This record gives sequence, C-alpha cells and structure tokens, in this order.
Amino acid sequence: MNIKHRPHMMHRFLTVAFIVSLVPVAAGAEDGLAAWLRYARLDAAAAQRAAQGLPMSVVTFEDSAPVQKARDELVKGIRGMLGRDLATVSALPREGGIIAGTVARLRQAVPGLSLAATVPADGYFLKTATIGGARCLVIAGESDRAVLYGAFAVLRRIALGHALTPLDERQEPAAPVRWVNEWNNIDGSIERGYGGRSIFWDGGRIRDDLSRVNDYGRLLASLGINGISINNVNANPLVLSSAFVPQVARVADVLRPWGVRLALAVDFGSPQSLGKLPTYDPLDPSVIAWWKARADDLYLAIPDFGGFVLKADSEGRVGPSAYGRSHADAANVVARALAPHGGVIFYRGFVYDHHMDWNNPKNDRARAAYDNFHPLDGQFDANAIVQIKHGPIDFQVREPASPLFGALGKTNQAIELQITQEYMGQGRHTVFLVPMWKAALDFDLHVGGAAPSPVKALVSGKTFHRPTGGFVGVSNVGLNPNWYGNHLSQANLYGFGRLAWNPDLTSQQIVDEWTRLTFGNDPLVVQTVTRIQLDSWPTYENYTGPLGLQTLTDIVGNHYGVAVEASERNGWGQWHRADDKAVGMDRSVASGTGFVGQYSAAVSKVYESVESCPDDLLLFMHHVPYTHRLHSGKTVIQYIYDSHYAGADAVERYVGDWNALRGRVDDQRFAEVAEQLTYQAGQAVVWRDAVSRWFHRASGIADARGRVDHYPDRLEAESATLAGYAVTKVTPWETASGDGAVECSAASCTATFQYTGASGPRDIVVQYFDVNTGAARFRLRVGDRVIGEWTGTDRVPTRRLDGSSSSRRTFRDVSLQKGDTIVIEGTPDAAETAALDYIETLPAGRRQR
Ligand code: GCU
Repeated sequence: MNIKHRPHMMHRFLTVAFIVSLVPVAAGAEDGLAAWLRYARLDAAAAQRAAQGLPMSVVTFEDSAPVQKARDELVKGIRGMLGRDLATVSALPREGGIIAGTVARLRQAVPGLSLAATVPADGYFLKTATIGGARCLVIAGESDRAVLYGAFAVLRRIALGHALTPLDERQEPAAPVRWVNEWNNIDGSIERGYGGRSIFWDGGRIRDDLSRVNDYGRLLASLGINGISINNVNANPLVLSSAFVPQVARVADVLRPWGVRLALAVDFGSPQSLGKLPTYDPLDPSVIAWWKARADDLYLAIPDFGGFVLKADSEGRVGPSAYGRSHADAANVVARALAPHGGVIFYRGFVYDHHMDWNNPKNDRARAAYDNFHPLDGQFDANAIVQIKHGPIDFQVREPASPLFGALGKTNQAIELQITQEYMGQGRHTVFLVPMWKAALDFDLHVGGAAPSPVKALVSGKTFHRPTGGFVGVSNVGLNPNWYGNHLSQANLYGFGRLAWNPDLTSQQIVDEWTRLTFGNDPLVVQTVTRIQLDSWPTYENYTGPLGLQTLTDIVGNHYGVAVEASERNGWGQWHRADDKAVGMDRSVASGTGFVGQYSAAVSKVYESVESCPDDLLLFMHHVPYTHRLHSGKTVIQYIYDSHYAGADAVERYVGDWNALRGRVDDQRFAEVAEQLTYQAGQAVVWRDAVSRWFHRASGIADARGRVDHYPDRLEAESATLAGYAVTKVTPWETASGDGAVECSAASCTATFQYTGASGPRDIVVQYFDVNTGAARFRLRVGDRVIGEWTGTDRVPTRRLDGSSSSRRTFRDVSLQKGDTIVIEGTPDAAETAALDYIETLPAGRRQR
C-alpha cells in the first residue's frame, strides 16, 4: 500500500497529547440546545471501553462540506466524551486512523480496503480493519452525507458506552424520503409551534442570524434526515417571489453541509395572486409556464433545491376544484416544473370538507382522504408523492392507520407524522409519540398479496415497488433553547428520525438511546426517564380521550385544553356523537358511514363488528351505549371514569419519580422538567374532572367508585365568603369545578374559606385561572399567616377562563387547625381577573414523594 504522509500532519499527530479523564463532569446548567448531541464526558469504564483501540487521528481525503463536518464532529465528540484530541490528517498515518469518506473515494485512496461492491443510497459501513499493519476504523458512506451519518453513528455508539472494536456494520435507510416540515410563517410565528418563534423567519423575511438553523441542521443530520420544508403548508404566495430567492438560498447554504435539502410549501393560487395571471388552472399553458419559470429561477440559486409541498382544496386553501381539475392535475403541473431539476412535490392527502352537515349520520371526515385520492391512483407523475397523515382524521390521541396507505398501489406515498404536539399537550405535556407512530407503522393493512403489508413497508415503497416514498415529520422547532419548550419532547424528533431510518426499531430501543444520549447513562435516570416516556402516551390517552374518542379538546380553538363538546354540532367532522345514552361514531358498513369498508377485507372484518373491534378504537368505529361491556368486562362509562383517574394518578407519579433524580441530572434541566411535570399533573386533574363530570351529567350513571362529582376535600370559590369577588360562569361548564368560578373586578379581592377538617398538616391546592392577558397576583393566608404568594404570568394559549387557563399551586405541609380561615387575596392585572375555581386540602404528602 502506498500512502504518503504529510510531514506536518504527522508531526501534529505524533505530538498530540491525550488523556482519558477519570473525573465525571459535574451536573452544571444545561439549556437543552445540544439535545442528544451533548458529547458529555463518559464515566471512566465506558470511556476506557470506547477508547480501546480507537485510533488517534481522523483521516479524510475529500473537501466536501459534509465530509468535513463528519471529521469535525468526530473530533468534537471524542474530545467531549473521551477527553482525547484527535489529529485531523489527509493521509493515513502509520499507526492507523479513523478513515472517513465516500466509498468511491476510499476505494481510490485506500487500496488495501475491501468494501462491498454496492452500497444503497445514503447507506454507510462502519468497519474496523487492519490496513498495512495499522488498525483503522473505517466510516465509508455511499454519499457525502452518508459519511456524516456514519460519523454520527460512531459517536452514538461511544456515547451509549458500546465498544467500537471489532466493528462491521452496514446501515441503510428504510426509505429515500426522510423529511421534516416546519409550519413557519414569514412573520416569524409558527402555526402549531410550541417552542417559541421561528429559527428561519422574522418580520417578513429570512432571519439575519441563522445560527440556530445550523444547529438544527446538525441535529437533523445526526438522524439521517435529508430534507426540510421551512414554511407553513398554509403557504404565503410570497415565498415564491424572486425577492425571496436569495434569502431562501442563504438557508439552503447553511443546511447543505449537513446534507439537508431545502424545500418550500407553496400556494396553488400563486400563478394568479403572485404571478398576476388571470387563472391558476393547472392545465392552462400560461400556468404551466409560470410554475416552470419559478422552478427554474429557484434552481439557479439553489441547485440542490428539494421541491415543493402543496396543500390544496383543504381548510380554505384554493385548489384544482376551482377549475374542475383533479388533485393529480394539480400535483403534476408542479411536478413537471420540478422534474428536470430532480425535485419532488409532496402533495398533501389532508383534503376534506370542513363544512359537513353534522346532522347527517352518513357524513364522515375520516373517509375523505381515501375518497379523494384512491380514484386517482396511477395518475400522479413519478416525482409526485402523496403525503398522508398517519390517521384518517388529524393527529388525534388514538386513530387507526389511514386506509389510504393501502389504496395507492401505483402512487408514491409518504407518511406524515406530527412531532410538534398539536392535540397532544403541546410543549406542556410530556407525551412520547413513538409508540403511537409504531402502532400505525407496524399495522398490517393486508394489501398487495400474501406478504405482510404494514404501513412502514407501504410508505417506503416496498410493498408496491415504488421508486420513492418515506417519512415526513411536522416538527415546528422554535427559538426556545430547548427547541420544543419541553426537554422531554425532544425525544419525539429523535424518535421520528430514528424510525424514518429504521422503522423496525422498538420504542424501548429508541427511548433508551435518547435518554442515555440526552441525560447520560446513570441507571436510575435511564430507568426513570424511559419509564415515564414509554408510559406517557397511554397516560395522555387515558385523561384526554380513551377508547377512540379522539382528543376531547377545543377543536375549533387552540387544540390544547379540554372542551368535550367543542367537536360537536359543527362542520369540522371530529365528532364523537356522545348523547345521553350512547357514544361514538358508527363507521361500520352495515349501519354507519362505511369508513370501515375502505380497508381490505381482513382489516374491515375486525373493525366492522363491535365484538371484534379492539377496545382502544371502539368509539372511533362504533356508537355504543354507555353500559356496553368492553372486552375487559368493564362498561364503557366506568372505563371512561377509571381511565381518567388512572391517567391523572400516573402523571402525579411522574413528578415524584422525576424528583428522585435531583442531583443526577444537571440543575437547569432538572428544575425545568420538574416544573413541566408538575404543571402537567395539575392539567391532568383538570382534564380528569372535566371529562368525567361531562360524561356523568350526559349519562346519568354514577361512578361505581364514587369519585366523580364527589370531592370531599374541595371548597368551591363560589361558596366562599367573597369580598370584591363575584361568581361567574365558565365556558365550557365542565372546565370549572362546582358551578363556576369567581372573578375580581375591584383593585383587589378576597375569598375566605372555613377549614372544618381535622387538625394537622395538610397540602393546600389552589385552583385558579391564569390567562394570557395579564399577570394577576395571588396571596394565600391561613388566618394572618402568609403561606405563599405568586403571580399568574403563564402564557397559556387562551384569554378566557377555561380548561387551558385552569392552573394549580400546591403548598405542602401547611399546619391547619379545625376552624382556621383560609384566605386567598387576588389582585387583578390588565384583563386578568385573579379568578379562582376552588381550594382543596389534602392529607399532607399524598401528592409528593
Ligand atoms: C391541522 C392543523 C392546522 C394545519 C392542518 C394541516 O388541522 O390544526 O393548523 O394547517 O392540520 O395539516 O394542514
């Protein structure tokens, strides 16, 4: 083997000093920005294991930006985790090295290296090899970005404490499409974004400072995500204007080194609204030429531009129906403009009528995607991909897999998963979505022959041998240092990326990896965090919408707080049809909307009958009496009550479990997660009481365990002695305990409660309302003793007293004597009225560990 050594590099290599530090890094403050790429120092044993046989230099032969990033990342990561400084060289040292490069280049540069003849797109090899007597670790990628993927995989192994030698691993992604969508508006706001303002846009243009875009590109690359669309699917036509091209090109320049291609969401009416043509008819020659010209213009500035995302004829967006044209006509006019440049169009399957007649029991939004797209199968161009939400409605807490995945044998498709937690607690509730996504991805739709056809195989193009397809995640990160407003929510982006690469990974594997990378390998931390995360979706389902009811939230508003009837009597079609006797949507073929018939016979047979339908989707598929017995033997109504109590209790446990990690997690993240979980525990009680009381009132059936509408430790504000406070109704009624709340319209007000319970230490819970229009102040006294003071500064997404603004404070271990007066003083601020719902005096310690 003939390898030339560069003398200066060799010198650097030989004089490099390295130490494997035995000192663990102290738990300082971390803000979450580094997410799972912290490269925190490993403990001595893990560091030793990883360092064993690890070469002391990184060798690269290519100047391309992704390969250079791979090199820099290896240096940074190994320095951080092992305390070793690697030399960076461009020729293989005698002592060996970590060799990183594309397969093609390595074959030339390192002739002694044997690599398999073919490498799948974006695939890589990790291999330990002895070359010319020297020990090497080879990272060989099919493409530049695959080298980067390989480097991140090596670093992941180190962080997880896995040995690096011997290594012989071949990795390839499940599908070519592994994209994220960011629903960012050009003014810098984000539709359904909960992590602050946009990292891309501000004030109608691309931000000057794109450093967070660079950080994000790094996170995406570490997962193998290779495309991103950076604006709202409810697109502003301006993004296609010539003036924007150089700005958008700046973003592409920042992401390119990370192997991430940039795309834009476009508005179908743009030829008319922006291009000033008389029409946007997709078959009109001037419209065809317009799309082509815009694409050509973009590709001049961004040669690797990814393509367009298009939402048409949906939720008020214009579309081909204006001209009697089909979705395929619409997709193809754009696809043909992109095709010569290698771009793709993601045409969204999220098309439905939001003005449906609620009174017609045959109407069903769940049918819409299939009804719209199935007849068009085979009519879409080769570079068009139909992007389909995982369920037939819209990111609800429990939905079946969309039947459309099984109905497009001649069309490329991608699954759309929502990482941002719309309908799923936003950044305020911890809900690990991977198990929910797995349920859809692993679901066998029984189409295309005898072999299993789970959704993951369909969207990857395997079942029907499609040339492209894959995974799209609606991510919506923001400027918040921790990206999503909740440290634990980062696991959803991580999980999305890992599944897009390999949908066969289990939820357990993914969460275990994420936790170790994000919080370290301390066994108690790993055990606690993984348990909370894995439990969090069923828990959230328990308190927000069990049995296929869907998320019982304010569906016409913020999609956050509880509002059981918000879904009903409107055209949006997220109906659950609960009345005084029965609940659920009848979607059967025999008596309902016929949705079940959109599945293959094997699947529809299961869903069609109440007997065989799984309990967790029962009310999605059927309308049954409250007294109907589930497979467990429990009645539907009792299940609704029990699941809500189980859900709220579980979150309460998370608080205690997390608190036991004090000192094992850095201070800042410890405190922020503790605060988030405490808040979530309070909200879970709001949900529990609202949903269970609503169904109690609707059904007239008592809770067999006597809990619902019976709160012996609770004192309602409406029944307190009020000075200045006045009783007010709360809408929807179920979001306030008792008969409503009290609001203060004076400069300050008091509500005085008599404590008649036993003397001794109690925890006092104050349930109040914290809207986003002011910062009211509160003081809690027992007699003259001030127990606590706080300000309602939260910025929950509501200006009204409702389930979203209902908040709680708990004061632990307050010594109370029978006959004490408990007083809350409220001082309004701006439009916030220092409103109170109730107080509760609970046995001390019941709510803590
Ligand atoms: C949901 C969401 C909207 C979004 C839409 C979509 O309905 O609430 O904000 O625009 O999905 O996916 O297009």
